[in-house]
Amino acid sequence: MATILSISGSPSAASRTARLLRHLDNRLTAQGHEVIPLDVRTLPADALLGADFRHPEIIQAAALVERADGVVVGTPVYKAAYSGLLKSLLDLLPQYALAGKTVLPLATGGSTAHVLAIDYALRPVLSSMGATHIVPGWFTLDKDLTVGVDGSLIVAPGAAEALAQVTDQFSLALGGRTTVLAATG
Ligand SMILES: Cc1cc2nc3c(=O)[nH]c(=O)nc-3n(C[C@H](O)[C@H](O)[C@H](O)COP(=O)(O)O)c2cc1C
Repeated sequence: MATILSISGSPSAASRTARLLRHLDNRLTAQGHEVIPLDVRTLPADALLGADFRHPEIIQAAALVERADGVVVGTPVYKAAYSGLLKSLLDLLPQYALAGKTVLPLATGGSTAHVLAIDYALRPVLSSMGATHIVPGWFTLDKDLTVGVDGSLIVAPGAAEALAQVTDQFSLALGGRTTVLAATG
């Protein structure tokens, strides 16, 4: 169906945001999409911090964005906004890199005080990059995300339901099937 790039902007090695995105990747894959995961923290720091547009891995990341029909942009909330790591990649993409793409913004955070970070901080940046179709996103509290003994992610029921809803809305906008595997809930 559609090609989706799923970008996690967390610098953390044990990132809940990245785990959440990979969890939702499974749901999107079950709906018939090709999903490509991208953890910004795996890109070379010197290229990101030195604004090296010509670094092969930055060129490759930009090509993945260009190829995608849909982009999931996930970030932890840091100081009431998106992470600097996410911004360091967005800054290296072409100005209108998100033109014509459907975008799903997601955030994880420690406090409901910053539940609007997606709308006040992230959404304007995505719009400035040409994204005209940004579907409703979701802010998930970190306490609602736990890692099981087998390493799998457990999402608290209320959050899981909301995340399933926004993910399915994104999928439908991309022409995905509505049936999903119950286990990916
Ligand atoms: C440096 C730093 C700043 C943070 N600032 C905020 C904040 O302003 N608002 C908030 O709700 N959570 C804040 N948090 C909590 C994280 O957003 C939250 O734990 C998130 O789920 C971490 O995601 P990760 O595991 O993917 O890194 C902060 C965490 C760190 C480490």
